[in-house]
Amino acid sequence: MIEFDAKTKIFHLHNEEFSYYFCINKLGYLIHLYSGKYIQSVDIERLTERYVERYAYLENNQEVCDESYYFALQASNFECASHLTGDKRGAPIIIKNVDGSTLTDFRYHSHSVINGKVEIENLPHTRIGTKKNVQTLEVVLKDIRSNVFLSLYYSIFDDMNVLIRNCKVFNGENEDINLIKAASLELDLFGEDYTLISTHGTWSMDRLIEETPINHNKIVVSDNHGARGFYHNPAIMIKEKEATYKSGDVFGLSLIYSGNFSFEVGQDDLNQTRIIAGINPETFNFKLSKGETFITPECVLAFSDKGINGVTQTLHDFAREYIIPKKFVNVERPILINSWEAYYFDFDTLKIKKLIDEAKELGIEMVVLDDGWFGKRNDDKTSLGDWELNLEKINLEEVIDYAHKQKMKFGLWVEPEMISPDSSLYKSHPEYALYNRNVKPTLYRHQLVLDFTSPKVVNEIFDMISSVFTKYDIDYCKWDFNRYLSEIGSTFLNADQEGEIYHRFMLGTYKLLDKFVKKFPNVLLETCASGGGRFDLGMLYYSPQIWASDETDPNARIEIQFATNLFYPLSTIGSHVSARPFSTYQDKAIIAAFGTFGYELDPLKLSEEDKKQIVEINKLVKTWHHIVTIGDYYTLKDPTKSNYASWMCVTKNKKEALVFHYNFRREPTRARYIKLVGLKPDQYYFNSLTNKIYRGDFYMNGGLNISCPIDEGKAMMFVLKAVSPLEKTIYEKMNSGKEEKRDKIV
Ligand code: DGJ
Repeated sequence: MIEFDAKTKIFHLHNEEFSYYFCINKLGYLIHLYSGKYIQSVDIERLTERYVERYAYLENNQEVCDESYYFALQASNFECASHLTGDKRGAPIIIKNVDGSTLTDFRYHSHSVINGKVEIENLPHTRIGTKKNVQTLEVVLKDIRSNVFLSLYYSIFDDMNVLIRNCKVFNGENEDINLIKAASLELDLFGEDYTLISTHGTWSMDRLIEETPINHNKIVVSDNHGARGFYHNPAIMIKEKEATYKSGDVFGLSLIYSGNFSFEVGQDDLNQTRIIAGINPETFNFKLSKGETFITPECVLAFSDKGINGVTQTLHDFAREYIIPKKFVNVERPILINSWEAYYFDFDTLKIKKLIDEAKELGIEMVVLDDGWFGKRNDDKTSLGDWELNLEKINLEEVIDYAHKQKMKFGLWVEPEMISPDSSLYKSHPEYALYNRNVKPTLYRHQLVLDFTSPKVVNEIFDMISSVFTKYDIDYCKWDFNRYLSEIGSTFLNADQEGEIYHRFMLGTYKLLDKFVKKFPNVLLETCASGGGRFDLGMLYYSPQIWASDETDPNARIEIQFATNLFYPLSTIGSHVSARPFSTYQDKAIIAAFGTFGYELDPLKLSEEDKKQIVEINKLVKTWHHIVTIGDYYTLKDPTKSNYASWMCVTKNKKEALVFHYNFRREPTRARYIKLVGLKPDQYYFNSLTNKIYRGDFYMNGGLNISCPIDEGKAMMFVLKAVSPLEKTIYEKMNSGKEEKRDKIV
């Protein structure tokens, strides 16, 4: 997978479908040559030739020009551009040297290849376990004027078009240096014809797609809220302008990191495109003393020449194979009901027991007790940090026992990174709150963030949360995060370490998550941040599912789920049905079925008719949900570009598929076909929409005819099942002469 030609000094990292080439040039710079569909070899001359003037150097007060060698810093494509040199397109690593300057000039020092991957401590990372299909190249660069070393790591897989990149900076100087930018990846692409796909959002609009043409203006997709990614998400795509969902070259970049991040994207004067991805430099400045190292988070670079769907599937497969805890990844999740939208803070033992009874009747498998069970928390003004049961309000042992006796699971909500000023914890330890003591800290939802830069604070919170989960037999945990970081300052760090706080906070959070999942490996964890404000590979490393949004109204929800689908597996997308009255339970459930499934409502308020619908829906979800959990996802109709949203999931063996269609506005008449994808062309499939059997090629090229009148906000879901030619004949004989039956739901 990793080849090095000692003569040409070319590295070729590849599998059968994907190639990534770079070389060491005569001056010791790493020159990026190519990334994309597999090619057997490259011609360096052709790839690096630029019609720009040659450069000379001043040596011993003499102008020197190496005529035999052509090289211009501002025109070449690099693996890691140096800072303050002739290359003005942005550098991934910036260091304030011992002499105060930020000029660096990193040149090749050595390299080595290992089978497997270098393990990263403290940060979530690609977990390869005992897999043997990965090789890692470490190229060590050295700054020519100092003893600062920079290692670039590249891991490549033989069965997935993914390259993992991150860096390590080592201070070999005798004095401190400051790392002021520490990105994980630089990708220099030839050519100009790219479009950026990113997401933006806010509460209740958690991720919405944004497409931006990449031109000479630098675009920065970034976040600086500390640990909340719905304003922008740490995953983007760079697609050829002409690429569609089905065809064309597309790159997907996804950071395994939940803190402040940035993607810089833009063209240079020669129309070449540079992308830099990693920790957001705006809020970062990390001191490295003699002998210390800094490791950047991993950045996933996925490639497909089969369009956006191709890269989406690669990102999904990668997350399922290498990020999400193995124990849960392809396992059906229980249908849950959450107490929040049913009761908010107003519940007691009896109410929760009634909720359990009703949920059981409806075919729901788990009850989750949300916010309000601890301290004296009867509203959101108090008690975060006091993780002790409010015995006056709820007898947890009794309700858990009650649920378990009925063969139902039980889950509990926590918000471990937070502290309410009105809490015993704050009264005894005001120094635990993370804010600059020279200002009045902003309260957001009446709360402050805990200073997780301190291991002491992390350990204390762990002990409290851990004693609750040890004492009570809890099956699931919803881990919330309801404000972002502001006016940061730490009583545990020196004033000049302000630039380390955001990253150290993240490391503390990861430490807590790590301790929790290690101590409670059987607890299904769902992270959350005011809805879906923390959806990234860093979180998925610990929690197999993430609450996608507090917004459950179909029209808005579809756009949020769609944007999330493009980057993250559907099995990770917490999707629930709520009581909001604008559409039927069936429509809301069809949408929620394309994620992890559950409810946010009070079942006692349901009509008998609604209850019947919900029982039926739950049966269907149990029957077909495995296709969503393990299948390949394809976008069929992009909701941002038409009146429809349509997508499908196909099992890897191509025997079953689940198709989704949604109409935003009412359309009484339309000749409407959905062309399916991902099926086997010569395989017969029964479809539950028309109850007919056709070959895969007919569904994919002719399409399924859904030319019926469809009302505003109507959702359809139908299943395709592979049948043999014999089963087809028998089925058609049995049904000949019968009228065609059209179902809207499987
Ligand atoms: C925000 C979450 O998104 C809600 O589902 C709920 O858990 C509340 N927090 C509780 O405070």
